[in-house]
Amino acid sequence: MTEAALLSPSSLDSKRFGVRVLRGLASTVPDATRMGREAVASGADLVIARCPTTPPPVAQALEAWGCFLCDTLVYFAGAVSPAAAPPDALASGRVRRLVEADVAPLSLVAEQAFSGFAGHYHADARLDGARATAGYVEWFQNQCRQADGVVLVSTTGGEPTGFLTLKLGASADDAEIVLNAVSPKAQGQGSYDALVKAAKHVAAQQGKTRLKVSTQLHNLAPQKVWARNGLEPSDSFYTFHWWADGARDRSAKP
Ligand SMILES: CC(C)(COP(=O)(O)OP(=O)(O)OC[C@H]1O[C@@H](n2cnc3c(N)ncnc32)[C@H](O)[C@@H]1OP(=O)(O)O)[C@@H](O)C(=O)NCCC(=O)NCCS
Repeated sequence: MTEAALLSPSSLDSKRFGVRVLRGLASTVPDATRMGREAVASGADLVIARCPTTPPPVAQALEAWGCFLCDTLVYFAGAVSPAAAPPDALASGRVRRLVEADVAPLSLVAEQAFSGFAGHYHADARLDGARATAGYVEWFQNQCRQADGVVLVSTTGGEPTGFLTLKLGASADDAEIVLNAVSPKAQGQGSYDALVKAAKHVAAQQGKTRLKVSTQLHNLAPQKVWARNGLEPSDSFYTFHWWADGARDRSAKP
C-alpha cells in the first residue's frame, strides 16, 4: 500500500518568497525520516516541517537530514461557556465586529505589529523580512474573507487599533484564535485582554465549548493574557526549515 505524502505544496509561501515551498507534519521518528527522503525527491527548495516537542527523537530525526529550528509553538486551550451578559468591552463598543472600512487600517496594524516578529519566517535568514511581514498582512486580509470565522476589532478613541480572528468551522466544539495583534501605539492598555474576553463570549454564543490558540514560546504578552482568562498550556510543536542546497545565509537568498 502506498503511504500518503507527508509534504504538500504551499502555494502562498512559494509565491511570496519566489521558491518552491513544501510543508508537513512529522509525528513519529519513522515519519521524520521518511519526510527527509520525500523532501529530497520532491524538488522543493524549502521545506517547513513541524513536529511535536516530545518525544525528542522526532525533532532529532528531522535535524539528522539537515532541518534547523526556526520557532517553537505553544498552544493554550480552555473551556468557554455562555454568560448572562457580554463582557464590558463588547457592551461598551471598545471591541466590536469587523466592518469593511477596518480592513485597510488594520492591515497597517498587522504590518507594524508583525514587523520583525520572531516567528519561523523571520527566523530564517534566507527569507526576506519584509516579505515575511507582508505574509502576516495577507494572512489577516484572508482571514477577513473567511466565511466560517469572526473578526473582532479593538478600538482606541473610536479608531480600530487591534484585531483577533476567530475560526469557528474547524470542529463542532472548538473555536480557534488564528491571528491577533494590537498596534504598537495602543499596546499595554488592555486591548488584547478585551479582545480575548470578547472572543470567549462570541465562541460560546456560537455553541463552542473550547477556545484554543497558539504563539511562539517566547511571546509572553499573549500567554499572560490567556492565563488570566482561564486558558492553560495544552500542546507544543517545533517548526524547522530545510533548504535543498544546504545554504542558510543571506548570500544564498532566494
Ligand atoms: C501580544 C499583543 C497582542 C498584546 O497586546 P496588548 O494590547 O499590549 O496586551 P494587553 O495590554 O492586554 O496586556 C498584555 C500583558 O502582557 C504584558 N507584556 C507586554 N509585553 C510583554 C513582554 N515582552 N514580556 C512580558 N509581558 C509583556 C503587558 O504588560 C500586559 O501585562 P500587564 O497587564 O501585567 O501589564 C501585542 O503585543 C502584539 O500585537 N504583539 C505583536 C503580535 C503578536 O505577538 N500577536 C500575538 C501572536 S499570538
